[in-house]
Amino acid sequence: MSSSENKPERTLADLGVTRPDQVVSLFGEVRARFESQVSRPLDQPNWEILRQAWLGRKSGVLTQIGDNWLKPATLELKRAVGASLNELRAHVESQIEARRLAIESGAEESALARERVDLSLPGVIRPIGSHHLIRQVFQEIEDIFVSIGFSVVEGPEIETPYYNFEALNIPEFHPVRDDMDTFYLELLKGAPTPLLLRTHTSPMQIRTMEKQKPPVRVIVPGKVYRRDNPDATHSFIFHQVEGLAVDTDITFCDFTGTIDYFVKQFFGPSVKTRFRPSYFPFTEPSVEFDVSCIFCGGSGAAAGGGTCSKCKGAGWIELFGAGMVDPAVYGFVNYDAKKVSGFAFGMGIDRLAMLRYGIDDIQVFFQNDVRFLSQFP
Ligand code: DAH
Repeated sequence: MSSSENKPERTLADLGVTRPDQVVSLFGEVRARFESQVSRPLDQPNWEILRQAWLGRKSGVLTQIGDNWLKPATLELKRAVGASLNELRAHVESQIEARRLAIESGAEESALARERVDLSLPGVIRPIGSHHLIRQVFQEIEDIFVSIGFSVVEGPEIETPYYNFEALNIPEFHPVRDDMDTFYLELLKGAPTPLLLRTHTSPMQIRTMEKQKPPVRVIVPGKVYRRDNPDATHSFIFHQVEGLAVDTDITFCDFTGTIDYFVKQFFGPSVKTRFRPSYFPFTEPSVEFDVSCIFCGGSGAAAGGGTCSKCKGAGWIELFGAGMVDPAVYGFVNYDAKKVSGFAFGMGIDRLAMLRYGIDDIQVFFQNDVRFLSQFP
C-alpha cells in the first residue's frame, strides 16, 4: 500500500488537515479507493476479505477513521468528520451488502467467468526479424578479412570534398569527378567547406592514414551515394567495402594474393581471378579484378546451349577496382612514399549480393518489402 492509501492510520494533525473542506476531500479519496475495490468481480472468499478490510471491528478502515480522525479531532473539525464518516459508513455497508446478495444469486459467477484468462487462446505473435541481405554480405566479407588480420572501421557518410576527392588525388576539374556527381548539402553562407554525400568509401583511406601510422590493414563497409537515375542496376544509394593495406614491404604479389584468397573464400575454391589494367587517380598501377563466371563455370556457355546470360559468353565477371596506392596519396597523409607501399580496393556490395543470390534488380534492396527480405532469414 502506498502512503497515500494509509491515511486512515494517521491523525488529521499528522496529515496537516485543519479545515473542514480538507476533511471533505480526504473522505473523497477514501471513498474513491473503496469504489475501485468494490467494483471488481468477487467470489465469496474475496468478498469476506473486502468486508474485513473496510468494516472489520478491530482494524477495518472505518474503525481506523473513527480512532485516528474522529476521536482526536479538534472541535472545529469534529462535526465535519462525524458527518462524513456516517455518510461513508452507510455507503460502504450498503455496497458490501449488495455484493453479498449478488454473489448469492450467482450473478457474480458469470462476471468472474467473463474476466477469467483463457490460456488456450493463441498468444500475441511477434515475428522475429533478420539482418538485411546487404548486412549479411557485409558480415561475411568482414569475417573473411578479419581472419587475415584486417580490422573493420566505419566513417561519415557526409564528407568534405577534400576527403572525397582532393586527398585521393582527384583535384577539382579532374574528369573522373563526372562519374561521381553527388548530392551537396545546403549550407549557410560562409560555411568553411561544402559538404557532400560521399560517392565512395575511399575517403576512409585518408581518414585512417591520418590517424594511424603503418602498418595499416582495414576494411570499410558503408553506404555511398551518387546522382544516378534508378533502374535495375543503378541506385542513388548503394554499398561498398573499401580495403586498404599499407606497410613497409607490401608488394603487388601480396595484393593479388589477398584478393584471390578473398574471392575464393567468398565464391568458392573453384573460381579463378584475373586482373586487367584500369585507371583510378589514387592507385598506380590500377586494375580491375574479374572472377570466372560463377554461373557457367567460366566456359561462357549456358547449360542448355547458347551463351551464358550472366557473363554474356565472356566467362568472366567484372568484380571491382583496385590497385597499389598512388605515392601522391601518401603526400596528403604525411607518409613517406619512399618507405611505404600498399594496396587498396573498393567493391560494390549490391552487385556482389545480386550475383551471388541471382537477384536481378538492385531496387529490391531499398524497398523493404518483407516478401523479399524474408527469403534471407
Ligand atoms: N572508389 C572507387 C569507386 O567507387 C573504387 C575503388 C577503386 C576503390 C580502386 C579503391 C581502389 O580503393 O583502389 O569507383
